[in-house]
Amino acid sequence: MKVFLAGASGALGCPLIRRLHDAGHEVWGLAHRPESLEIIERLGAHSVKGDALNQVDIFELIERIRPEVVIDQLTSLPTSPVDLAQRLPADCRLRLEGGGHLFEAARMFQVRRYIQQLSGFYLDGGTGLANEASPLRINAPGTIGDSARMYASLEKRISSVQSMVCIGLRYGFFYGPGTWYWPDGAFSRHLHQGEIALIGKGSSSFSFIHVDDAAQAAVAALTVPSGIYNIVDDQPSKMSDWLPAYAKWIGADAPPCLDEREGLRLSGEESVYYQNSLSGACNHKARAMLGFSPRRLPWFN
Ligand SMILES: NC(=O)c1ccc[n+]([C@@H]2O[C@H](COP(=O)([O-])OP(=O)(O)OC[C@H]3O[C@@H](n4cnc5c(N)ncnc54)[C@H](OP(=O)(O)O)[C@@H]3O)[C@@H](O)[C@H]2O)c1
Repeated sequence: MKVFLAGASGALGCPLIRRLHDAGHEVWGLAHRPESLEIIERLGAHSVKGDALNQVDIFELIERIRPEVVIDQLTSLPTSPVDLAQRLPADCRLRLEGGGHLFEAARMFQVRRYIQQLSGFYLDGGTGLANEASPLRINAPGTIGDSARMYASLEKRISSVQSMVCIGLRYGFFYGPGTWYWPDGAFSRHLHQGEIALIGKGSSSFSFIHVDDAAQAAVAALTVPSGIYNIVDDQPSKMSDWLPAYAKWIGADAPPCLDEREGLRLSGEESVYYQNSLSGACNHKARAMLGFSPRRLPWFN
């Protein structure tokens, strides 16, 4: 198939180009920085220079290339989660406005299938794991609520059309090369520097996903019916379990513990919520429909 991939040079875009290429697809990868275009070419795709925020650019590109499939993996996130609050407005703008241009261009030029990156980590699973019907945590504090509202808009956008097959992939927290959670990533660095503490009971449940497994799911999504799929691993785990195991895996000291009151005073409401209220997600639908089979978390091996 002829696939137009936006966000082609990102942490997920790179393994996705490799997998699409290996599966025999013709990939056109969008990026805007010159060094990113070189990466895309080296991975075996056609590089496409363009700014997703420029509507004219995007419509011209889709009209010229005429892909059968558009995959939106656009993000504008910082290299460290510490800078998230500062960068989130730009990220939301890119995904809502830039992704919106892509979506409208795909509709206008009869693209058959549209695949959208979504979130599987800000879902509300109640007392259990979140499934595909679970809502996003749109009333959560700070950047969690801001992000959840953005993902809810993206979910609404892809479920609003009948003329394309629309697939939403709700990814867990990424790990793997180029991500915050890889040993050379920012989360690992902050933990080594003693900047991350376990707050309260650490009862949030986290679902992670390796970027290459996320890429495998996106390739499988080229042939499945419209809908939302949770793309998360098989090991949803409490913050209080995974954080010490992760620290050991990267060779850092175990994180210090703060009670909730101290956590609230030192780190704020959002951090307490982040560590104690999140739900993991369930991948049964993706296993059944996408043949999805994620690897085990390296810090629990
Ligand atoms: N589910 C998750 O946990 C999740 C999801 C997404 C990201 N993250 C984290 O966020 C960090 C960065 O993620 P990433 O690697 O995806 O980000 P990235 O390297 O910034 O990649 C974003 C992609 O979007 C493209 N892009 C950005 N602005 C654009 C624009 N205006 N027009 C066209 N293309 C544009 C970039 O192209 P250029 O290279 O040309 O800028 C790049 O291909 C990583 O640590 C990752 O783990 C986590």
